[in-house]
Amino acid sequence: MGTDRHFLESLLGRMTLEEKVGQLSLYSADVKLAGAETVNPALTFKAPQSRFEDIRAGRVTGVFNGYGEAYIRALQTIAVEDSRLGIPLIFGADVIHGFRTAFPVPLAEAASFEPELAERVAETAAAEAAAEGLHWTFAPGADLCRDARWGRVVESYGEDTLVASRFAAARVRGFQGDDLRDPRRLMATVKHFAAYGAAEAGLDYNTAEISRTTLVDHYLPPYRAAVEAGAGAVMTAFNDVDGVPASANRELLTGLLREQWGFKGFTVSDYNSDFETIVHGLADSPREAARLCFLAGLDMCMQSGLYADQLAGLVADGAVEEAAVDRSVLRVLAAKQALGLFENPYRGLGAAFDPGPARALAREAARRCPVLLKNRDGVLPLKAGARVALIGPFAREHQNLNGAWAIFAANGQSVNLEDGFRAALGDQALIVEPGCAISEALPGGLEAAAAAAAGADVVLLALGEGQHMSGESRSRTDIGLPAAQIELAQAMRRTGKPIVTLLRTGRPLAIPELAALSDALLVTWFLGCETGAAVADLVLGRAAPSGRLPMSFPRHVGQAPIYYARKATGRPPRDPPGPFTARYIDAEPGPLYPFGFGLGYGRIDYGPTRVSPADLAGSGAVTVSCELTERAGADIEEVVQLYVHDVAASRVRPVRELKAFRKVAVAAGARVVVEFELRREDLGFADGTGGWTVEPGAFEVWIAPNAEAGVPARFVLRSEAGA
Ligand code: GLC
Repeated sequence: MGTDRHFLESLLGRMTLEEKVGQLSLYSADVKLAGAETVNPALTFKAPQSRFEDIRAGRVTGVFNGYGEAYIRALQTIAVEDSRLGIPLIFGADVIHGFRTAFPVPLAEAASFEPELAERVAETAAAEAAAEGLHWTFAPGADLCRDARWGRVVESYGEDTLVASRFAAARVRGFQGDDLRDPRRLMATVKHFAAYGAAEAGLDYNTAEISRTTLVDHYLPPYRAAVEAGAGAVMTAFNDVDGVPASANRELLTGLLREQWGFKGFTVSDYNSDFETIVHGLADSPREAARLCFLAGLDMCMQSGLYADQLAGLVADGAVEEAAVDRSVLRVLAAKQALGLFENPYRGLGAAFDPGPARALAREAARRCPVLLKNRDGVLPLKAGARVALIGPFAREHQNLNGAWAIFAANGQSVNLEDGFRAALGDQALIVEPGCAISEALPGGLEAAAAAAAGADVVLLALGEGQHMSGESRSRTDIGLPAAQIELAQAMRRTGKPIVTLLRTGRPLAIPELAALSDALLVTWFLGCETGAAVADLVLGRAAPSGRLPMSFPRHVGQAPIYYARKATGRPPRDPPGPFTARYIDAEPGPLYPFGFGLGYGRIDYGPTRVSPADLAGSGAVTVSCELTERAGADIEEVVQLYVHDVAASRVRPVRELKAFRKVAVAAGARVVVEFELRREDLGFADGTGGWTVEPGAFEVWIAPNAEAGVPARFVLRSEAGA
């Protein structure tokens, strides 16, 4: 970030220690101001005057999740006009998937397999938030997640390291652009560092129980991709890694982040996570918690006030050097300067923002995320003139369109399923019945739904999770659908009408029965403010589904964590399962639907995977190619995936690893050849001693439509010397 170092150092030279500590203290918008809104759980609610006094005294570096011109202007005026040095506040917020305009949740975005789309969405969200005076977003989340029980999987990019890396980096670029002085940009924060998504048993905040090589190979690269994309801040995770809470983990925050990755921004705790090192059982006092976190490399406290209470004392006692405090303060001041806040503390505030293009983008994005898992006899797209019964708890409600962390969404103008289909079908027959509530039956609901279905040619069954069934602190032990919804689905099956299930969810669900009784199954995730318009576009054929699963759908929650990049074991599962193999005696092997799977309205036949040359020597590359042929006579956008498997290595490697993907448009009946290049550096892995290794030997390689399909080709990686 371009900064005028001399200005910052001269400012630092005029700061008292208390003012320096103030620059390391971030608080939630727990001040209630007329005309202002706040969305944070104000754990330490303060009366407005005392918070204003804190700002006036230079004890606050910024505020988060407050918004509105009245609010931001009032607090910023105190900071820049009444405080001794006039250092501007930084205003942060959880702009996770949109600000006023709610876009698809991150897991849905990942299903598009279009990082460039995510970049455009982030850019639009930044412009909308910056126009209300915000400077800093606490996104992207880059937490790899392999366990659908974890509630925050909805905020993740799923189970694959490459997908998560590409999307995290794209979102940083979208939020930040090339110059943070641009008043339409936000500084990005990559979170939650590190391995928050590895929570054991899918239980939020739980310990991350993974091996060192799994951490390095699979969980760390998405954070690194976001750092290398230029993220201005890193937020620490609530969990411990190898017994050390992330907010006090020097190996992560200094050894890895700064010394190995060269991160130059600042680190910030998650909400009280620094203080919680006491609860973890690492520190035995707030003073010790502050000492351990600061010496580990945590620059800024979010909400706890830990440094405000303890850091000056630690400096006075010599436990922390003031020079170290100065380094942290300079990082924060540099971020404020990069944002142009010293030139214009009211940067962006009140700028014009036209929501029209944002809504158009929301509809386009919402069209590109759904995943078609089943389409028996081509029931989709619906035939023109079909009489439609839209049934289910999500048929006509607005409260569950956005998913978790859409805390600023302007829901008044959102388009629910009924709105979308009524607008698309005009006066064509559309009858709507809830049939049941999200988690319980409705008196007479099944009967009313059956009557509605009787008069229709097709049933659109809108089922799934409510938006509070995923998100922070919303892990589930059962990832099926509520019984009331299954009963409704069974009742619809009994009508004999074709059933198109529209599955709203923030996570992979274990839905074998629902999948079996549906003629078509479209996973719609949480798509945001244009949900109904986008789903109608897909169901009626004005657009075609092109999403693919960013995460495996299990047959049963008992399989969790289930993911494609698994190790073979010495006795891999067989189908049909055999004795003395890796199997459950009460469930079929493998996922219900694998990573990367999804259908379109066209159908692609994959030719054999070819690789040339057969040997990869020195710094060369092999070209992997495959001929795709469209067979159904309909255009399709196919997500072509490149997987490798290192057949034998010093540490056993996953049975497949995604090394590239590309969404390719294939016209009806067309043949296209898709090519990828693989190089030596694409084939490395952590050697378990802190290093990275690439080992000669045989590799299998696939160009395939998902992680379970295809027949591999082989090539040999020669040693650097060519042996
Ligand atoms: C929450 C979340 C984090 C969020 C922060 C501020 O607890 O863990 O993702 O950015 O607090 O709201």
